[in-house]
Amino acid sequence: MRRLLIISMLTLSLTSQVLIPAQAEGDAVAGAKIYLKCRSCHILEQPTNRMGPHLMQLLGRKAGSVEGFQYSPAMTEAGKTGLIWDEKNLKAFLTSPKTMIPGTSMRFWGLWEGQIDDLTAYLREQSQMKPAED
Ligand code: HEC
Repeated sequence: MRRLLIISMLTLSLTSQVLIPAQAEGDAVAGAKIYLKCRSCHILEQPTNRMGPHLMQLLGRKAGSVEGFQYSPAMTEAGKTGLIWDEKNLKAFLTSPKTMIPGTSMRFWGLWEGQIDDLTAYLREQSQMKPAED
């Protein structure tokens, strides 16, 4: 009986190892929780601006391009000179908004590298979704 238990525990731990997704790609489920830190300023599901611009269809979007949002001159300029929110740029921005875009009006810092990977995985997933229909 005891042996059987040990064997089944062993099988269980082996299976769960196989199910763990590759960490380098980030974990979208964990990313959804991290996104709660952004939610007070950014809406993801519909094109509504809050203190920050909406982040619908963010990946592939030009920086500073949401109509009706009052960006800082620095962000507007970044978009004009060709900054696109791909994953690499997004990660650099979230690591330190001020370092990447000096003069940005986004006051935010404090994500670990692993959190940024998870968050990016979530945003990638969300960007692939079609906008909600009314
Ligand atoms: C305190 C409010 C606040 C929080 C929290 C915040 N942001 Fe922002 N965010 C802003 C503002 C304001 C801007 C516009 C910056 C500018 O114009 O320089 C911005 C801009 C951005 C942009 C550029 C968008 C564009 O259209 O070019 C991205 C991407 C972004 N934020 C992502 C995030 C993510 C992801 C988080 C969570 C980790 C986050 N922000 C948290 C206020 C916030």
